[in-house]
Amino acid sequence: MKIAVIGTGYVGLVTGACFAEVGIDVTCVDIDAKKIASLEQGVIPIYEPGLNEIVSRNVSKNRLSFSTELAKVIPGCDVVFIAVGTPPGEDGSADLKYVLAVAREIGRSMCDYLVVVTKSTVPVGTAKKVKSSIEEELKLRDSTLTFDIASNPEFLKEGAAIEDFLKPDRIIIGVESEEAEDVMRKLYKPFLLNGHPIIFMDVPSAEMTKYAANSMLATKISFMNDIANLCEIMGADVNMVRRGIGSDSRIGNKFIYPGIGYGGSCFPKDVKALIKTAAEHGYDMQVLKSVESVNEFQKSVMFNKIKRHFNGELSGKVVALWGLSFKPKTDDMREAPSLVIIEKLLEAGAQVKAYDPVAMKEAQHIIGDRIEYVHDEYEALIDADALMVVTEWPEFRSPNFQVVGKLLKNKVIFDGRNIYDAKELQELGFAYQGIGVHE
Ligand code: UGA
Repeated sequence: MKIAVIGTGYVGLVTGACFAEVGIDVTCVDIDAKKIASLEQGVIPIYEPGLNEIVSRNVSKNRLSFSTELAKVIPGCDVVFIAVGTPPGEDGSADLKYVLAVAREIGRSMCDYLVVVTKSTVPVGTAKKVKSSIEEELKLRDSTLTFDIASNPEFLKEGAAIEDFLKPDRIIIGVESEEAEDVMRKLYKPFLLNGHPIIFMDVPSAEMTKYAANSMLATKISFMNDIANLCEIMGADVNMVRRGIGSDSRIGNKFIYPGIGYGGSCFPKDVKALIKTAAEHGYDMQVLKSVESVNEFQKSVMFNKIKRHFNGELSGKVVALWGLSFKPKTDDMREAPSLVIIEKLLEAGAQVKAYDPVAMKEAQHIIGDRIEYVHDEYEALIDADALMVVTEWPEFRSPNFQVVGKLLKNKVIFDGRNIYDAKELQELGFAYQGIGVHE
């Protein structure tokens, strides 16, 4: 089979590389000539474990190639994935101009039956718009060519994208015809070996599945953050409550970890977009609105704790931050809770010394030199009045607490991810505050 993946962002690149990995002939297309040129040199624009290797391996085997010329790539393809960006507009709705421009070009350049698949996260109804755009172009060419649309949302997690793609929990595909279903089943066959299902459904349901999944996960997190805050007030320990409820298989033990709020490019954007889509159709998503407001509140929880600890006086205090990215194993700073925490600390007159294993360059683009970036986690502690753990990178999980205690001016730790044991740290003489853990 021969496929094209349009858009070499996070989703497109991972999709293209993983299809090539199972032997499919893939061309990744992007209008950004600089990006394509550097990809051809083996330079990957994002940090994702394993991606570099998989791209280089498949390029060298001639299964993966790159191009800027969509019109030249389309003829001869069986399937085209649209994986271009859908940046949120000011009102939170996804901007479809790139998706629809690609659809038009497909309509202008296709010369045989083709399945056109939307892979980007797009609002319910987008695949239909893609279909109309292609049809309009075909009419202009006076063509009798046929095609099918399909919706195939992705469920990759940053930091684990390759693994998620190669061994998916499930593959969701919305189709309108049996022919498209057959093509997509054949394409995905190599990924079904772990026994997880491919679920075919109609196109709007597939589009909705993506938003419903992310919104449900965001809801779990905000719910647990609410419970955590209440645990503190009531003298309960959310770590115990989490284990207690997670052992009920109906609830499950995943995605119920309280923290400093969810971030990243997906949950905040998708929750906002679903609220917006619903409102446009006259429906009020009350639960999701609360999920959003709890998340906003949660980003300030650690700042409020540190402020209280220093009796409201943060001016001149030096705070060491461990972690900047919105979660471990990524350099993604989009909607990272660290950004809110840093703004608040700076506003209160504190100085910030930060260390992150991979996100410092990315962070510097956004925050600039208003904070100090250091070379390792221990350096951040020198002359610091407190340590705040922002991202649960594995290397922060078991530091040498003797050294931590010696380097810090005050033995104070704010743990925004509950990675430490409160009792253990208190026994070592630290003042410790986590999330949802009684002081
Ligand atoms: C998320 C979904 O998990 C993927 O299934 C989906 O494909 C992806 O969005 C997308 O739409 O593209 P991602 O944003 O990479 O993936 O990151 P997650 O690992 O889901 O974490 C999201 C946020 O939730 C992070 O800020 C994380 O710290 C937070 N989180 C997660 C918690 O606060 N508690 C938890 O228990 C789990």
